[in-house]
Parts: sequence; C-alpha cells; structure tokens
Amino acid sequence: RAIVTSGPTYEAIDPVRYLANRSSGKQGHAIAAALAQLGAEVVLVAGPNNLPDPGGVQVQAIESAAQMLAACEAALPADIAVCAAAVADWRVAGEAGQKMKKDGSGRPPALALVENPDILKTLSQLNGGRPGLVVGFAAETEKVVGYAQGKRTRKGCDWIVANDVGAGTNVMGGDDNTVHLITAQGVEDWPTMSKDAVAAALARRIAEHFGSA
Ligand code: CTP
Repeated sequence: RAIVTSGPTYEAIDPVRYLANRSSGKQGHAIAAALAQLGAEVVLVAGPNNLPDPGGVQVQAIESAAQMLAACEAALPADIAVCAAAVADWRVAGEAGQKMKKDGSGRPPALALVENPDILKTLSQLNGGRPGLVVGFAAETEKVVGYAQGKRTRKGCDWIVANDVGAGTNVMGGDDNTVHLITAQGVEDWPTMSKDAVAAALARRIAEHFGSA
C-alpha cells in the first residue's frame, strides 16, 4: 500500500485568492500510476491540477497543506510514502471571510504568513506506523545534490529524488526530468527521461526494495 502526494497546494487568502507553488502534478501522478501498475494499492493525495485521475488509483482531492496532511494520515497504515507535491511553505494567518477590497490608498494589504506543516517530515518522523520506505523530492535551483542530501537527513526520509528546477530546465510544467536518486548508500545520477520514465524507474526501485521485482 502506497501514499503519493502530488500537485501544488492552494492556501486561501480570501474566498477569491490563494497562494500556491508552480506545479503541474505530472511527476506525482505518474508515480502513483506506475506503483499501481506494479500492483500496489495506491492513495493519491492531490492538490488542484488539470490531469486525469490515473487508473487503478484512489484519488483524494485536497486544496491546502493542512488538508493534504490530514488525508495522508487518514490513509495510513502504508508501506510506502512518496511525497512529490509542491506544498506551499506558508499559509495566510487568518483567511479573510470576504473578498479583500482595495481601500483606494494605493497601499497593498500586508499578509501575515504562518508556516505550513511539513508532510514529508511528519510521515518520516512518525513514532508508530511510519511507512517502511519514505521518499521525498527536492526541487533545487543550485547545488542540487548537496542541498538534497541535507534535506534527506533533516527531514528523516529514506530516499530523495533531487531535481534541478532552475530557469531554463523547463522541469516545472514540462514533460522531462533529470534527477538524482539519493539514498543512505550514495547518489545515482539518472539520465534525462520523461516524467513517466522517471516514475516507472522509481516504482521499479521501490518494488526491488521490498523484494517484489
Ligand atoms: N514537503 C512537504 N510538506 C511541506 C513542504 C515540503 O511534504 N510543507 C515535501 C515535498 O513534497 C518534497 C520535499 O518536502 O518531497 C522537499 O520539498 P522542497 O520544496 O524541495 O523543500 P522545502 O522543504 O520547501 O525546503 P526549502 O524551501 O529549504 O528548499
């Protein structure tokens, strides 16, 4: 059984506006589909996206990071968690009940932000019921492998899939990805592949880890 997070999260500012990260959900959805194809029972916890639901996968649609965490916790126990979502790091403290109106002064409103829960870290550091294999992603624009190695130890996950999302890479929203798989054993540099091929290769590695491939 696997839990996969995908897409961005939307953090409401008022009933009309939100804060979000740039994310298509393509990589997370492809991983959910690839794990299902290998026979896993998959719960895909997905933020707003324009993708079709992958076949053979149970989809939980959520909007905010808090809802994503709650849906992941509700989907436990699981053997595998793959956190591919681009979760908004902050949400607005106190969502306005009505649309915020311009007051004519020309001065924009100040938004107070509070930090969102870290879903990958929470699942990685569960005391009871931690999934046997927790995989995170690291979106970096510089020092990709170094930052991602730090993220692996800081969050306490088992593997990190690190990708370079800097300007010019077209990873955000694009169909291809160049990743490095970081484990306790070291770093593997994978060639540039489609996001579907990255998902298939990762699902295969996960199945091997559990001795079922
Ligand atoms: N993640 C999460 N919950 C959050 C933030 C991030 O589950 N609130 C997960 C992402 O799904 C990804 C990993 O953490 O698997 C790393 O996300 P990334 O945006 O690269 O890192 P951050 O934690 O935001 O760290 P930084 O801003 O320092 O790069």
